[in-house]
Amino acid sequence: MKIHILSSTDRPGSNALKVSRYAKRIINENSEVEIFSLADYPLQDIVGGKYGKEIESVKTFNDRFLSADGFLFVIPEYNGGFPGILKLFYDYLPFPKAFQRIPVSLIGEAAGAFGALRPVEQFAQLLSYRKAHIFPDSMYIQRVNDSFDPETGLKSEKLQELLLKQLHDFPEFVRKLSNN
Ligand SMILES: Cc1cc2nc3c(=O)[nH]c(=O)nc-3n(C[C@H](O)[C@H](O)[C@H](O)COP(=O)(O)O)c2cc1C
Repeated sequence: MKIHILSSTDRPGSNALKVSRYAKRIINENSEVEIFSLADYPLQDIVGGKYGKEIESVKTFNDRFLSADGFLFVIPEYNGGFPGILKLFYDYLPFPKAFQRIPVSLIGEAAGAFGALRPVEQFAQLLSYRKAHIFPDSMYIQRVNDSFDPETGLKSEKLQELLLKQLHDFPEFVRKLSNN
């Protein structure tokens, strides 16, 4: 069973990528995991509004990303929402099938006190529109620069417990849906 993680920004030195790497280490204990970063998305090839056209570089990125049984999106908060590059990526995925009946889990991270609750909820709406099966437990990492250690995870014991629960239970959710 394969799970792909999307680090949902192209910002250099991104916390989303650090959280993605940590999540991979935990999920890897019982599933195959690969990280994709929107820093590697071929943004230059979609400039000019190429909606509906076949763009080789975008197709390659999307096909590789979509070849999994479940997805984990790690989403930072930018101006009360998710990064613009995530919406571009989403708008160039194949319609309608990309996430139809596919399990998806979400983690938010932000410098502020709400831990990217807003962008995660916003993105969940977009996933519902595309008929994804959203895993009900999401983690919202608040004050990420102080609260998260890339090696050991969250410094708060209680929040770390919740994060580990999400990362341990999601593969089981994927497995159950794949068997149905
Ligand atoms: C363009 C931009 C807008 C931001 N807006 C918010 C915000 O609205 N709320 C917040 O809590 N943090 C905000 N931040 C801080 C980020 O949430 C924080 O730095 C986060 O770790 C960024 O994730 P990244 O390192 O993966 O890019 C913003 C950061 C950037 C770059």
